Amino acid sequence: MTLVSPSLLAADFLHLDQDIQMINRSEADWLHLDVMDGSFVPNISFGFPVLEAVAKACKKPLDVHFMIEKPERYIQQTAKLGAMMMNVHQEACLHLHRTIQEIHQAGMKAGVTLNPATPVSVLEDVICDVDMVLLMSVNPGFGGQKFIENTIQKVKRLRQLINESGSRALIEVDGGVQGETAPRLVAAGVDVLVSGSYVFKASNPEDIIHQLRSL
Ligand code: DX5
Ligand code: ZN
Repeated sequence: MTLVSPSLLAADFLHLDQDIQMINRSEADWLHLDVMDGSFVPNISFGFPVLEAVAKACKKPLDVHFMIEKPERYIQQTAKLGAMMMNVHQEACLHLHRTIQEIHQAGMKAGVTLNPATPVSVLEDVICDVDMVLLMSVNPGFGGQKFIENTIQKVKRLRQLINESGSRALIEVDGGVQGETAPRLVAAGVDVLVSGSYVFKASNPEDIIHQLRSL
C-alpha cells in the first residue's frame, strides 16, 4: 500500500471547506500543505492564517512543505498547528542538523526536501536523523508542471542510501504525480505520493486517491 498526501495547492480556494470535507471522506493518508515565500521559490501560496483554518477542519495528519528561506523560524508555529510532519528544504537550511533536532523537540516528524538539482548524497550524514525525504520531481513553486524523469533514478539511489544506512526514512515524491508516473515511482521505491492537480482537478477525486493508494 502506498500513502497518499493530496496537495491542497490545487484545491478551489474559494471553496476550501468543500475540498477539505472531500479529503476527510477520502482514503487520503495525509494532507500536503505548500507554503511559499516568493523568495526561495518565485511564487507565494498561503501562510499561517490559512493553515490554522485548514488545521481546524481537516481530520487527516498535516504534511507541511515549507518552500521558504530559513524555515526554522516557524518551527514553533507549525507545531502549534498540530502538524504531523514539517518538511524543510535542504537548500534553505544552513544548519540542517540543528533544524531537524528542533523539529523533533517541538514534537513533529522531520522531513527534508531536495530540489531536482540537489543530489541525494547531500543527505548521507543526516539520513538516520530524518523521518522522511521529500524528492521534488518538478522545480518547486507551481502545481501542474511536467514530471522530471530523472526522479526515478534518484528514488532508486535514495532507496539504496536508506537501506545501506539502516535509516527508517520514508520516501515522498512531489510534482507531476499522475496515472502514468505514479506506478513507476512506486516500483522505484516511493512510500508517499503527493498529488495536486491529478487529484483535485479530477471529476472524482476520491476515486483517484483510492487508485493511487492501491498502487
Ligand atoms: C509544487 C508543490 C506541489 C504541488 C504539486 O511546488 O510543492 O506540492 O502542489 O502539484 P502537481 O501534483 O499538480 O504537480
Ligand atoms: Zn509540495
